Amino acid sequence: MPIIDEKVSLQHVVTMESLSNEEVMGLIERGIAFKRGETASISQTAYVSNLFFEDSTRTHKSFEMAELRLGLNMIDFDAKTSSVNKGESLYDTILTMSALGVDICVIRHSEVDYYQELIDSPTITASIVNGGDGSGQHPSQSLLDLMTIYEEFGRFEGLKIMIAGDLTHSRVAKSNMHILKRLGASLFFAGPSEWYAEEFDAYGQHVSLDEIVEQADVLMFLRVQHERHDGNESFSKEDYHRLYGLTQERYARMKDTAILMHPAPVNRDVEIADELVEAPQSRIIRQMQNGVFVRMAILEAVLQARAS
Ligand code: CP
Repeated sequence: MPIIDEKVSLQHVVTMESLSNEEVMGLIERGIAFKRGETASISQTAYVSNLFFEDSTRTHKSFEMAELRLGLNMIDFDAKTSSVNKGESLYDTILTMSALGVDICVIRHSEVDYYQELIDSPTITASIVNGGDGSGQHPSQSLLDLMTIYEEFGRFEGLKIMIAGDLTHSRVAKSNMHILKRLGASLFFAGPSEWYAEEFDAYGQHVSLDEIVEQADVLMFLRVQHERHDGNESFSKEDYHRLYGLTQERYARMKDTAILMHPAPVNRDVEIADELVEAPQSRIIRQMQNGVFVRMAILEAVLQARAS
């Protein structure tokens, strides 16, 4: 699919399903332009608050970096010292932020689809950008993944992309499987069958890691989401790595042109051998770098929609 030269404007960014292919390509294009050093086109004074109710390093801090680079005003929010501790609901927190004049709320929350009641509210005027909803969606991670793949290959059509690991608990996998299929990639899933759901058959096929490792253009490993397993884990770290992880032996079998991805944080020596995280074919650091630029594109697109 060719890159398009079209301004993208979006009121909210909450799922990949809600974005058209043209909007996705427009955001990637804008992220690449920001990386080249282009400046933003924002006409208004704007206020942004990052409200993280689940832990984060990359998403939280790269949104902050994107906001600083765009010259936006940041309103600090720390769930641990807020009135959440007095029983304030998410709805009432965002209602308050909106009433104070915050234009964009970037939110991470453990509840799947938390954003729906906020978007549907007739009183909340702030735009919502989803920084991850439980095991639901992670659109800004998906967009930075797409930007990284596009920079490497210049296309999605016909690429063989493997997503391996904790699929059922991963919001990254849900966002990526949807959009990658729509953009024409061939998807393959690998990892434990207990972390695979029948509904994923609509996007690709479940294969053995050893079958796909030599064929894939992109090998995307997912973090084992211990915090969502309720203490029930059937693998030792060593067994998981041996059966489903990227070992040195599997890395050596990857195509020379293939790339290794992971949304991070990586459980080193579980999903990926420690020394491979920064190996020549790894794009994990580039994913983090691209996260700043694609999040600049998201924020600019939302502010442009609010100004129009
Ligand atoms: N990839 C990702 O979402 O990382 P954080 O949880 O650190 O934000």
